[in-house]
Amino acid sequence: MSKRIVLLPGDGIGVEVVREAKKIIDYLSERYGMEIRTGTYLAGGASLENCGEPVKDEVVEACKKSDAVLLGAVGGPRWDDFPADKRPEKALLRLRKELGLYNNLRPVTVFDSLKDASPLRPEVVDGVDLLVVRELTGGLYFGQPKGISEENGTEVGVDTMRYSVPEIERIAVAAFEAARGRRKKVTSVDKANILASSQLWRKTVASIAGNYPDVTLENMLVDNCAMQLIRNPSQFDVILTENMFGDILSDEAAMLTGSIGMLPSASLGDGPGMYEPVHGSAPDIAGQDIANPLATLASVALMFRYSLNHEQAARDIESAISKVLSDGYNCKDMSRHARHVLSTSEMGDKILETIKTTGDSK
Ligand code: IPM
Ligand code: MG
Repeated sequence: MSKRIVLLPGDGIGVEVVREAKKIIDYLSERYGMEIRTGTYLAGGASLENCGEPVKDEVVEACKKSDAVLLGAVGGPRWDDFPADKRPEKALLRLRKELGLYNNLRPVTVFDSLKDASPLRPEVVDGVDLLVVRELTGGLYFGQPKGISEENGTEVGVDTMRYSVPEIERIAVAAFEAARGRRKKVTSVDKANILASSQLWRKTVASIAGNYPDVTLENMLVDNCAMQLIRNPSQFDVILTENMFGDILSDEAAMLTGSIGMLPSASLGDGPGMYEPVHGSAPDIAGQDIANPLATLASVALMFRYSLNHEQAARDIESAISKVLSDGYNCKDMSRHARHVLSTSEMGDKILETIKTTGDSK
């Protein structure tokens, strides 16, 4: 059952964290006889420098033919002034669209050992375990018309928030299915008091909810959700929302854990899934071996779970992360909450060593 994984380290710390991920993938592949083959390709700024395109057609093709894609991060100040279609982020958007990755899962878990790391009081974040289910291929990011044009002698910028019923239905199904495996509550977040796309969203989500009588549906306006995430985050189980709201709320939710450096994500569609840490390329700390690789390693766990159908390997990684954290190890971003501060590569090695000594070797 050989498997192909495309590695796209991308830019900045993406390169360092994906290097650590590869160590873990290679080890688990061997341990479970999975014959995983990895291939590394350029994406984002790295690809722009090399060939002038954010991602080459042949790289997109390789991704389509793979079983899963692991992406580090794209972007950096060097490419900030590039035109919209030549920005590193375009690589990400193109891959999301061409691989049909409409379902973006961003789990937010506050580890017991890191309750103090949150900027919120420990009793507020106690027990937070939520999942943001973000629609990823529609809404403002992709809706047409889009662009800057001239109207009556002045420049006008337009983006369109557009959703069709089938687009809403499939992401709602993903959220309800996810809720079934959790605490059975979906909070659908919209702006239905103002936006037409949100009114259709709310109606469509309600119709899907009818097929899930065991799951509770609650609707919440996005501004209220932004507030509730800070006021009482443990009320949430699954947050279902459209692309742009999900982008913003997931960064906010990430901070409940104290560091965006800890959060993994999975982007799923009908073909290969793409996995990436929620943090960006962090150009300010790139190349110093201090970035936190845990979000990427947790993303690899999601990859084993959803794309490689290997729950045990996923759990090996997740329990190693949890153990290493509760043993007091962390990286520089979390140094105030760690007894031992590790570099990026030391953290990779520590997780690997922990998997080797504590995992279930079958
Ligand atoms: C994210 C990022 C991306 C997004 C950017 C880099 C295009 O912020 O994955 O949340 O806006 O989706
Ligand atoms: Mg974002």
